[in-house]
Amino acid sequence: MADEIPTRKWVFMVTAQTATNIAVIKYWGKRDETLILPINDSISVTLDPAHLCTTTTVAVSPSFEKDRMWLNGKEISLSGDRYQNCLREIRSCASDVEDEKKGIKITKKDWEKLYLHIDSHNNFPTAAGLASSAAGFACLGLFRQPSALGSRSRSMGLRRDTCCFGFNTVNQVFALAKLMNVKEDQGKLSAIARQGSGSACRSLYGGFVKWNMGKAEDGSDSIAVQLADEKHWDDLVIVIAVVSSRQKETSSTTGMHESVETSMLIQHRAEEVVPERIIQMEEAIKNHDFLSFARLTCADSNQFHAVCLDTCPPIFYMNDTSHRQAFASLFFYAHLDCGIVIINCVEKWNRSEGTPQLATGSSHCRRLLFFLSHILHSRSVESGAV
Ligand code: ADP
Ligand code: DP6
Ligand code: CO
Repeated sequence: MADEIPTRKWVFMVTAQTATNIAVIKYWGKRDETLILPINDSISVTLDPAHLCTTTTVAVSPSFEKDRMWLNGKEISLSGDRYQNCLREIRSCASDVEDEKKGIKITKKDWEKLYLHIDSHNNFPTAAGLASSAAGFACLGLFRQPSALGSRSRSMGLRRDTCCFGFNTVNQVFALAKLMNVKEDQGKLSAIARQGSGSACRSLYGGFVKWNMGKAEDGSDSIAVQLADEKHWDDLVIVIAVVSSRQKETSSTTGMHESVETSMLIQHRAEEVVPERIIQMEEAIKNHDFLSFARLTCADSNQFHAVCLDTCPPIFYMNDTSHRQAFASLFFYAHLDCGIVIINCVEKWNRSEGTPQLATGSSHCRRLLFFLSHILHSRSVESGAV
């Protein structure tokens, strides 16, 4: 920092918006819990950030006295390893940032001394099974839109006379990385996001994304790659319907740890089942082969839940509504020639005409959803038979 800077009040910030991703071949189980290295490859679809997303503002200022973070408006502790690892890794890659007009320069060395304030919001339930950790850690991450600096700065306890500056438009890059002018490539950023939450490394890309488990002990080859971009399969419709917004009883991190420790099925899945499925899924995506895509997605989801049941004590991520909708989604892919993957269903959906939360607003999708809700409604009375 130039000498006169510390006497001035300034804050430098960027705002990011990142979509969550939903795995169609699931990551479940780690071989290294610190570096977050998985026991199998996984494939996911990144949703449209206009629907389910995390918005994060990261700010730096000489007036900040420690690193702080607010999640959905509530201050949370940054003392956990995952946040610490992400912050440390990004800081180590920081380089000089200069705003000539404002006469502010932050050098590589300054980044070691400057503290950060992070303000993050998920527009969907947190820790409820909709991959908030993926969008969240990638968003400490992806920078997209700069709006609402004013309201955000207030939420971070900044004074009104603070001079705020930030970027206006940037392509998708890791947001803290943008703030600190990190020049590393997407692969390296994906590896950093991975250390926040495994699934986060896949949210650095849109479309269809594969996370290669890698072989290296230091995790350098355990990174995500884009298989196909978001335009590749235009008529694939993904509907996310929320069965419950409640926090999961078992977090993914704890759940997969216990599965690795106690499940007999998990190793068979990782070694004998997933490798073949990954090849088939890549083919299905490449060829727009919906029937194979849907069959593999459902089979893999079911096996993931089977591993959870095979864990001691067993983990239940599905409720009765989920079970009914799992049947309904099978019904759909068998009878319609358009794509639909139901991940979850709205709680109370069966009881009334409650409005499902759509991951897409197309009328086509609404029609599908109407059918689905109808089927769920009629199946609920005979769920024993499903
Ligand atoms: P989910 O199914 O929602 O991913 P997880 O159990 O995997 O549930 O992860 C939830 C955890 O992810 C939260 O307790 C929090 O630590 C972290 N997380 C969620 N949202 C964010 C966010 N926006 N920014 C940073 N971390 C987040
Ligand atoms: C079932 O990435 O949330 O959603 O790496 O411990 O943070 P950590 O776990 P997380 O696990 C996601 C599990 C899953 C499947 C998937 O997204 O591939
Ligand atoms: Co998660």
